[in-house]
Amino acid sequence: MKAELDPAHAGGPERFDIVRMTAADIAEVTRIERASFTTTWPADAFYNELTTNKLAHYFVGRIGERIVGYGGIWVIFEDSHITTIAVDAEFRGRKFGEILLLHLLDEAIERGATWMTLEVRESNVAAQQLYRKYGFTTVTTRKGYYSDNDENALVMWAGNLKGDLYRARLNALRAALHART
Ligand SMILES: CC(C)(COP(=O)(O)OP(=O)(O)OC[C@H]1O[C@@H](n2cnc3c(N)ncnc32)[C@H](O)[C@@H]1OP(=O)(O)O)[C@@H](O)C(=O)NCCC(=O)NCCS
Repeated sequence: MKAELDPAHAGGPERFDIVRMTAADIAEVTRIERASFTTTWPADAFYNELTTNKLAHYFVGRIGERIVGYGGIWVIFEDSHITTIAVDAEFRGRKFGEILLLHLLDEAIERGATWMTLEVRESNVAAQQLYRKYGFTTVTTRKGYYSDNDENALVMWAGNLKGDLYRARLNALRAALHART
């Protein structure tokens, strides 16, 4: 599956393709994960997600053969949950994170989700900004959620994903990504 956006307009001159993550991608995804997060998943977590979790849908964003970002969701009837999303540090600030998030939203909506939630560190302003841009709001705080430094998690939700207002918002954001030169 290709990203719906024309990558030439969405992320600079490179072609940014989004495809389903496979087991062959895990080593490279893990490299990006270790460089992006202070707490990381157990070594077999991605493999288990890809092979045994029927609710899970994971994608990688590539420029040529190189994986530059990845993201995943769980979709459980009307609820969806972003489990992870990251862009390789040297490729940040070029809209790849936004294109990945839009892809996860499209995937969740296509699979019937009405709501989407995620947890984000209180200090992670960049990610929060991205989520707010896509209509996520903070509904609660989980105190000391992150065990490495006892940091709070903001629990953010977006919805109604199927409603006219949200669809209009997504279309406007998609159009703005298309319009980038
Ligand atoms: C969060 C992350 C995925 C964003 O990816 P990215 O490709 O760098 O972001 P984009 O270029 O697509 O930016 C899209 C939007 O994100 C927000 N954003 C991105 N970087 C930002 C920054 N440094 N400061 C503030 N807002 C930022 C902005 O809203 C931006 O939209 P704008 O350009 O219209 O202002 C990336 O920073 C990352 O991988 N971080 C480490 C992993 C992580 O924290 N994941 C989220 C866990 S909850």
